[in-house]
Amino acid sequence: MRVEDTFARPLRNLRISVTDRCNLRCAYCMPEEEYVWLPREQILHFEEMGALVDVFMDLGVDKIRLTGGEPLLRRDLPELVRLLVAKPRLRDLAMTTNGVLLAEQARALKSAGLHRVTVSLDTLRPDRFTMLTRRTHHAQVLDGIAALGRVGFGGTKLDTVVMRSVNDDELADLIEYGRSVSAEVRFIEYMDVGGATRWSMDRVVSRAEMLGVLGRRYGTIEPIVETSSAPADRYRLANGTVFGIISSTTAPFCASCDRSRLTADGMWYLCLYAQRGIDLRGPLRGGATADDLKALIASAWTRRADRGAEERLKLRERTPLVQIGRLREDPHLEMHTRGG
Ligand code: GTP
Ligand code: 5AD
Ligand code: SF4
Repeated sequence: MRVEDTFARPLRNLRISVTDRCNLRCAYCMPEEEYVWLPREQILHFEEMGALVDVFMDLGVDKIRLTGGEPLLRRDLPELVRLLVAKPRLRDLAMTTNGVLLAEQARALKSAGLHRVTVSLDTLRPDRFTMLTRRTHHAQVLDGIAALGRVGFGGTKLDTVVMRSVNDDELADLIEYGRSVSAEVRFIEYMDVGGATRWSMDRVVSRAEMLGVLGRRYGTIEPIVETSSAPADRYRLANGTVFGIISSTTAPFCASCDRSRLTADGMWYLCLYAQRGIDLRGPLRGGATADDLKALIASAWTRRADRGAEERLKLRERTPLVQIGRLREDPHLEMHTRGG
């Protein structure tokens, strides 16, 4: 059975946040000193995630991305990978990580069957990394990226959130670095999502501006025309190097958005910007059958009308999405709980 929402968007892409914990404190995501964490007993076991995934797959999901917080902080993650790749309907299993623990885990993830990895990398400068993340793990991240190629991963992407006067002078350096490690770099506009409590429009470097800077450095930049639901617009430089831009702030991709998010404690969100989610842990632990869960998920998706980023775009005065007080009351509003 396939389901479509009110804009005829299918349910195809599920992002599973396996933990809300993180070992970095990136300025655009976790700028605060203290956080409220999800209670341990509410975190889904791998078998529970597997059972939910079966239901999602019945409704059309065939792409899964493991996220966090930092997914590699979840103990025995390769076991979850093994459990998911065994599902015949799975087409794509990826993971988004900050890379800190990647060097030590890359081989186990590869042998478990993970298809590909995206690493967040906002700067090539160690001192800047420390300032941006409040941690000193830059060398570990670079080691992690190097390890991917060594253990046989292809299709690696590097995600860079571009912030004005923070790392916007590194676009070309990051492209060159990406080429040297055979990874595609994607520049992400700084988004006013939950958790980004220091966000302001003047800190956003738009896609147009990025293309301007790169055009002056590299000459003609050719857009790659493709129809897909992926958030990144891809471009090719005259020297053949390909990079992407995810312009969720100034030119969102809501119209083709086929993704939803499952938090580590089993809340399901139909939009990155959604204020409310649907509790799947309650029914699952309360004895709901697969058919019950399927009916619940199908009915919610069929009513889905979210276009969170497009609605933000219409606002005249744009300020952070959620104030700190509400984030403390409901950590599900945080990007690090919902999965980046
Ligand atoms: P692939 O194309 O399959 O590699 O996945 P992806 O591009 O979705 O990868 P990734 O998880 O690395 O997402 C990259 C970035 O896109 C995120 O970190 C967000 O900044 C942004 N993004 C991801 N999902 C959403 C979403 O649901 N809505 C919006 N507006 N932005 C998103
Ligand atoms: N703006 C854009 N991307 C963000 N992420 C987290 N917070 C933001 C934000 N405010 C994304 C980044 C990061 C991933 C883990 O989550 O892409 O690499
Ligand atoms: Fe999808 Fe919502 Fe993101 Fe738009 S803002 S792309 S609808 S998750």
